[in-house]
Amino acid sequence: MPATVIVGAQWGDEGKGKIVDLLAAHADLVCRYQGGPNAGNTIVTDGQTFKLRHVPSGILRGKTCVIGAGCVIDPEILIAELDGLEARGVATKAICLSGNAHLIMPWHIAIDGAAERRLGRLQIGTTRRGIGPAYADKAARLGIRVQDLLEPKILRQKIETALTEKNVWLERVYGSEPFALDDVAGRYERYAGRLRPYVADTSLLVHRALKNGLSVLLSGAQGSLLDLDHGTYPFVTSSNPLAAAAATSLGIGPNRIEAVIGVAKAYVTRVGEGPFPTEIEGPDGARVRELGGEFGTVTGRERRCGWLDLVALRYTIRLNGITALALTKLDVLSSFARLPVCVGYRLRDGSETTEFPAHQSDFHHCRPVYETLSGWQRGLETVEDLAALPDAARRYLAFIERQLEVEISLVGTGAGREQVLSGGGLEALAGRGVATPHARS
Ligand code: GDP
Ligand code: IMO
Ligand code: MG
Repeated sequence: MPATVIVGAQWGDEGKGKIVDLLAAHADLVCRYQGGPNAGNTIVTDGQTFKLRHVPSGILRGKTCVIGAGCVIDPEILIAELDGLEARGVATKAICLSGNAHLIMPWHIAIDGAAERRLGRLQIGTTRRGIGPAYADKAARLGIRVQDLLEPKILRQKIETALTEKNVWLERVYGSEPFALDDVAGRYERYAGRLRPYVADTSLLVHRALKNGLSVLLSGAQGSLLDLDHGTYPFVTSSNPLAAAAATSLGIGPNRIEAVIGVAKAYVTRVGEGPFPTEIEGPDGARVRELGGEFGTVTGRERRCGWLDLVALRYTIRLNGITALALTKLDVLSSFARLPVCVGYRLRDGSETTEFPAHQSDFHHCRPVYETLSGWQRGLETVEDLAALPDAARRYLAFIERQLEVEISLVGTGAGREQVLSGGGLEALAGRGVATPHARS
């Protein structure tokens, strides 16, 4: 059985949590492949709202959930999340945490905040959860991993080694307080006791699941335009949300991935700094924000709102090999009479392009070229299938499909778990019933 990736196709917060939860009903294993507590994935079910940070959304469906090697873990946040889920009657026993995942240490959080303060108006607008510094230490081979929690002596040694350098940085470069070895080691030894039962060889687990024909979903955090290599650098996160990273980050072969579902809003949002060609200035932007409840799940910051950008979406479809789109939050556009959709960028030299600029200066200075479509000006609450959408809404979807040459297989019409329209075939979208040669190997 092949694996299916679910990837954010914009700048994050596209509604991945809700789509993963929906498809998880038809899957056996749900795996998070990158990111950390910068993610905030919301699921609304039976009037209850869950905001997941580390744990894949499959947990609410009682599925085995993997947190892969490519993730960075803040043990305090993960433990609070596990406790919070248990307190609400959601069992967490089936969570498997890779021993290779890196730990976010207190100095990562301190450095993230101090570096942003020092950048001043050039700041990235990070979530200040220590994500960048933790991934930087991983690349510098100074990181401390989940498996180090299992060996107190090694853990203490690694903390000591890191602190000899980090404390100098904190005090001399940022003028911040240093950390004491005993405090940090004591705290992380306590976390170890709570997390130990969850640590597993997750690469082997996913491999066996695939080999045994189970249906496996691989879910990314953040969004493609925040990808470290192909996003809007430097206004990006420090990992690779792109679908291909699912393979390296979980430790499976790329040929195990067959389908890639891109999740995009019917408009666009962005949190933090960085260029955003279709950003809506003025009252319409505020209206989308209010109607869409566009406030950050993690930081509570106002999300910047923009009209749908098909140039950017065409780019992320290419980067990920997206085979189907889930378009969320169509309902949020219901009250607008006219809906601008960005079909091209006008560059500084006056030329127009439908392809995402390869150079950052072109992207920073481009102007959106819009086609304006009619709105439907009718609520979508009572619509039960795609065919029953108002004509103008169907024209909006058909226009996007034509421009992007990708099918929209799911449409979100509200925050609730059941508020998704599909053309049928959720099982197939979750990868069930699609045999590959691997299933027989
Ligand atoms: P994620 O990070 O991609 O999982 O997305 P977030 O949870 O950060 O943000 C998406 C927000 O939109 C959440 O508040 C969801 O409850 C909400 N949402 C998801 N799909 C829909 C939809 O189709 N319509 C509406 N109105 N809200 C939605
Ligand atoms: P989910 O999974 C939206 C943004 C931050 C900032 C940049 C770098 O909920 O879609 P970081 O803390 O990662 O170093 O910040 O990335 N960002 C997100 N924006 N959704 C997210 O996750 C995000 N995770 C990080 O706002 O601009
Ligand atoms: Mg989010």
